Amino acid sequence: MHPLIASVLALLFVLVAGITLFLMLEITGRIRDNGGKSGLISAHRILGYLFIALFALILFFMIEKAAGLQQELSARAVFHIALALALIPLLLVKVLVVRRLPHCSEKLPLLGITIFTFSFVLSGITAGYYILHRSDFVYTTLSVQDSDVLDIELGKALMTGKCNKCHSLERVYRAYKSEDDWVVTVNRMAQLDSPNITGFDLKQVLNYLLKQQEERQGRRQVDPENEMGRSLVSRKCTLCHNLDRVFEAKKSAKEWTVTVERMIVIMDEPDFLDEEEQADIISFLSERENVE
Ligand code: HEC
Ligand code: HEC
Repeated sequence: MHPLIASVLALLFVLVAGITLFLMLEITGRIRDNGGKSGLISAHRILGYLFIALFALILFFMIEKAAGLQQELSARAVFHIALALALIPLLLVKVLVVRRLPHCSEKLPLLGITIFTFSFVLSGITAGYYILHRSDFVYTTLSVQDSDVLDIELGKALMTGKCNKCHSLERVYRAYKSEDDWVVTVNRMAQLDSPNITGFDLKQVLNYLLKQQEERQGRRQVDPENEMGRSLVSRKCTLCHNLDRVFEAKKSAKEWTVTVERMIVIMDEPDFLDEEEQADIISFLSERENVE
């Protein structure tokens, strides 16, 4: 999810929590005068359910994101998830008390305040973090002094961890660019995902991208027919059907990307093809088209 949407959702979440709590306190305060109470109660109930719906939505995105991460969760993320999970029993107790134990209703304001506090802290660590760090983005380039800290393996790991959040890594490996163009692209990506990709990450990723591209171009010169792609196709794409099935198909690089991704899903094995092997297969299959 885009950080801006996440921030808006988070702000909406606190706002609804705040208004719901306010209505509840109003209702409790008017315990003796019944005037206008039922209207407030329905408004409170509607907002309460809206709050639960928003919470479920945010929880869904959060779990999806945490499950997709390939690295250890940061302390901030663990704290965030723990807080969110703690809200579930609180909300459950709140709804149960209202529906089943009306004589305990004097405990409700306390529960309401607790839920609001949790929501506030929860959103504070998302929205607050993004808003405070929004201006942290600094346009970054590679310089000679960086060569001491640059590390290809680290760059690869950072790229695998950070660049597949919004699109597949295939998209990254498919692109061939000059150093200047890569600097522009990677900075644009870092800005889109600010502040998750730091200047340090950016340098490492840039270094890795340039090195692996060089290596691949070198391989292309040694291997103009893309023997690597050919041999991968004959080894890996014959596990379930014969090669006629593959060679019969005429597709563009884009279509081959979709097909190869589908084959990976069918194969359902994490080590079946890594991103570089996919890129070799796709370029072999789509360029074979152009040759014929
Ligand atoms: C916050 C989401 C997000 C993250 C994280 C992200 N990208 Fe992107 N990327 C996009 C979007 C959206 C597009 C398509 C629109 C565009 O090109 O601006 C794109 C397009 C691209 C393209 C194709 C367009 C071009 O200019 O060649 C490349 C290459 C790319 N991303 C590389 C990367 C790299 C490298 C990283 C990691 C440093 C990365 N992306 C991380 C959102 C993201
Ligand atoms: C785990 C088994 C498996 C592996 C491995 C596999 N395929 Fe397939 N392939 C299938 C099945 C099943 C179908 C038919 C169903 C379908 O099209 O989704 C198919 C159909 C196809 C088709 C015809 C349908 C279309 O979209 O044009 C092509 C082309 C193809 N495979 C290419 C490949 C390539 C290229 C590879 C190697 C990267 C590969 N397959 C590896 C199982 C596999």
